Amino acid sequence: MYSARRYLMCPPAHFRVSYSINPWMDPAKPVDLPLAVAQWEALRDLYRSLGHTVEELAPDPELPDMVYAANGALVVDGRVLGARFAHPERAGEAAAHLEWYRARGFAEVREPEHINEGEGDFAVTASWLLAGRGFRSSPLSHPEAQEFFGRPVIGLDLVDPRFYHLDTALCVLDDCRDDAVMYHPEAFSPGSRAVLARLFPEAVVVGEADARAFGLNAVSDGHHVLLPQAAAGLFGPLRERGYEPVGVDLGELLKGGGSVKCCTAELRG
Ligand code: ARG
Repeated sequence: MYSARRYLMCPPAHFRVSYSINPWMDPAKPVDLPLAVAQWEALRDLYRSLGHTVEELAPDPELPDMVYAANGALVVDGRVLGARFAHPERAGEAAAHLEWYRARGFAEVREPEHINEGEGDFAVTASWLLAGRGFRSSPLSHPEAQEFFGRPVIGLDLVDPRFYHLDTALCVLDDCRDDAVMYHPEAFSPGSRAVLARLFPEAVVVGEADARAFGLNAVSDGHHVLLPQAAAGLFGPLRERGYEPVGVDLGELLKGGGSVKCCTAELRG
């Protein structure tokens, strides 16, 4: 069901690709910063036009990947598990997020012990946390999140470096249910694929082309599904299931290896 959401985003004022920590990042490829800003602002304004609240985190000139706000924490039931980044280039982002949450009276704000990249590797269904591992978040972050949130964690092994975060390979379409997701099976190990098929027999199964277009890096409010326009193959299957897909162009942010979901942290509860 469609409900008003609260999101946290970080403007790409200092976005650039000056290092490479995923296969999409090529420092030799120039970024059009004014275009990146315009694309990001269009996404923010789209959320607001749908009735959602968007809060903004102040960007830091030393942290070009900070625009990918989804990686800074996981927030469920007003409880915040901060991030601990796998790469030193992004390490400084964790404190900026923790500070933001601490200043805003969230029920509990926890600095994690183990590496986890926030909503990059954690997705939330009605009862579970789906959790990716293999490239960024440590497998040890899974029991840590389970203990902190008191929700069962389902660990999933990512095997394709292009889909290095769970949110590039799987998207929860309706977080009031436990069976409404879309995912790209080939991004997961055979065992994790079998787990996904068992849990989500009704899933939208996403092929290579739409996954490569970052079609799974989408944000759903339970009705509207905001996703890259280029993931053309997903619009039909989403409509058939009663969702309203809304195409977005975040082409410049793709150069850092992220799209709609990466730019959007959801503040739940
Ligand atoms: N350049 C960033 C990195 O490699 C992109 C992060 C994308 N965020 C995401 N939620 N998938 O860490």
